[in-house]
Amino acid sequence: MNRSQNTELETRVESLLSQMTLEEKAAQMMQIPFSYVPREEALRWARLGAGSFLHVLGDDARELQQIALGTRLGIPVLFGIDAIHGHALNDHATVFPSQLAAACSWNPELVEQMGRVTAREVATDGLHWTFSPVLCLARDTRWGRVNETFGEDPYLTGELGAAIIRGYQGDRLDGEESITACAKHYIGYGEAVGGRDACDTEMTYRKLREVFLPPFKRAVEAGVATVMTAYGSIDGSPFTASEKSLKTILRDELGFDGFVVTDWDNVTSLVIRQFVAENMDEASLLAANAGNDMIMTTEAFYDSAIRLVRTGRMDERILDAAVRNILRIKFEMGLFERPEKRGKPGCFACAEHLEASLTLARESITLLKNDGVLPFGAGVRRIAVIGPNADDIRAQYGDWTYFTHPAANRRQEPVRPYTTVLEGIRAVAGEQGVAVSYSRGCGVLDSTADDLDGALEVARGCDAIVLVVGDVPEQAGETKDRADLALSGRQEALFERLKTLSIPIVTILVASKPLCVSHVVEGSSAFLAAFNGGMLGGQAVAEALFGRINPSGKLPISFPRHSGQIPVYYNQLPGWHGDKYVDLPQTPLFAFGEGLSYTSFAYSNLRLDADTRAVSVSLQNTGGQAGAETVQVYLRDRVSSVLTPVKRLVAFEKVWLAAGETRELVFSLTREDFSLVLPNERRVVEPGEFVIFVGGSSKDEDLLSGTIFVE
Ligand code: NOJ
Repeated sequence: MNRSQNTELETRVESLLSQMTLEEKAAQMMQIPFSYVPREEALRWARLGAGSFLHVLGDDARELQQIALGTRLGIPVLFGIDAIHGHALNDHATVFPSQLAAACSWNPELVEQMGRVTAREVATDGLHWTFSPVLCLARDTRWGRVNETFGEDPYLTGELGAAIIRGYQGDRLDGEESITACAKHYIGYGEAVGGRDACDTEMTYRKLREVFLPPFKRAVEAGVATVMTAYGSIDGSPFTASEKSLKTILRDELGFDGFVVTDWDNVTSLVIRQFVAENMDEASLLAANAGNDMIMTTEAFYDSAIRLVRTGRMDERILDAAVRNILRIKFEMGLFERPEKRGKPGCFACAEHLEASLTLARESITLLKNDGVLPFGAGVRRIAVIGPNADDIRAQYGDWTYFTHPAANRRQEPVRPYTTVLEGIRAVAGEQGVAVSYSRGCGVLDSTADDLDGALEVARGCDAIVLVVGDVPEQAGETKDRADLALSGRQEALFERLKTLSIPIVTILVASKPLCVSHVVEGSSAFLAAFNGGMLGGQAVAEALFGRINPSGKLPISFPRHSGQIPVYYNQLPGWHGDKYVDLPQTPLFAFGEGLSYTSFAYSNLRLDADTRAVSVSLQNTGGQAGAETVQVYLRDRVSSVLTPVKRLVAFEKVWLAAGETRELVFSLTREDFSLVLPNERRVVEPGEFVIFVGGSSKDEDLLSGTIFVE
């Protein structure tokens, strides 16, 4: 049922709205950044009846709420926070793997659990709303916010996005442990030109519908209660001012029935960054008319909105519609009955939550090369752990934690529990009587303490070297794009020095995103991507190295060989001469969907049924131990009236099989899976032949294929 069809709720909304003055309505649309305004100012906004504050925790939130409840109408405040991978702006909460790392698991259940645990901790802090998930696609990996995405693929992003939304919102928004999710950034933010954060996006509405809209459609189907407007623009119109995208597509077509919040100061940007409005009144008019219900951080909107209505330039019904959308969610959340969520006192980083973070970290470990050195066998008695990210919890966490965005306090000290890679290896190796020595070797950014010679001495005489390289939070996040994705500092030089010892090197990538590591991978015996593994990411890595877990991650994103090769996402449109470089192959270093295991799998007997659109395949674990394989189904439209991707993911399932076990898998494709978007923006199925691929990665050599005819 659509939210506005709930008559009881609607009666309450209308009754409250009818009592509100123009000023109260404008205030309800305001979201004030607590950490950016002077305290007195924040309190004044609470007295004015501001609808929401962001980035405020604990007693400050309680004080603001008390003020709000004491105003004439006593409308409770909705508190928002960026709980992006766990409620990690609070230094005592559980830190999960980043969204990108989580996506490597290809496990919606675990991602849903991540959402549930995060919601419980956010609610326990008395807060209501997380600005998550990010449904942007990471196709240009120079972009600083790749770590926040579920990778490059619309289908995988939609499935995992829907899962985490279910986790955050639970069965009912008024549950003690349910918080409101926010699908962001609507839309196409990841497509910023050159990977430069918040730049213009080169997009048409056809492409928007074909590529970027599907994850948001899934989010709306999952009942997401809020959506955040992106910074970018489409064909010359900022999304903030785009009635077509915010109203026609999002509300009328997708049926979104929650409220829309702008991103950070989007309204001011219409004046000072995008130059489509002369002044704040113009900008406020554009944003409100387009369908932004809540205005994040643009304080000037309040006066402008009141002035616009008073002077007859804006219809008050525009404000009514926005406030209605906001109040509806506040009622649905039960805020009028219980303004402060209770959550589960004592749950922060409790055993159950740590287990959820660890389980996800384990399933995100993605083994991409292994010449047989892994798992470490009895012959490995001495290990040297080398590298800047081996023992750096900030690097392991990545962006959106209390290190990078201190909301609670200005504390920068790491808070236990957590396990770095070095600590994880020491623990597991210790139990197996394996000696571990360590040297940082070099920095990622700062080279003042580099000691390549020292690292060489530490590694000399060992049976294996575990080299942990990557990036640090200064190289990832909003506004932190990189033109060059090569390993920074002297990390490659460190690798070169270690190579001279002729000891097997196992390289671990602890980073916010795929970096250009071709050279290092070539010279390593094994390569494993851990990305930002969260609190216990180091333990998960150690368990994988020693074979206590069998790696099962698959890449949700392709690895470029070189920055100049970007973009390398797998679902490109068919090319012509442009499918190669003179000096580089066009294939990525590692492709979307790739990931090895300590066991092996064989696919056979692909069957396609045109009537039921069922795809069946047999999968056998042909190796010597239990393991998980993610079976991926891709589709290509053989001939279509517009260019369609060379292949695109339409289904997947992660399957656990004992050694020798065989399983029959059946995937039921929907009619929509075969559709495309025409130049007139209509989604249709064009009858004809479709190639179906099934296998363990997006690479042709890993796929069985067959053809199906669809009417
Ligand atoms: C700007 C970011 O783009 C957005 O993702 C975030 O939720 C808001 N700031 C609030 O911090």
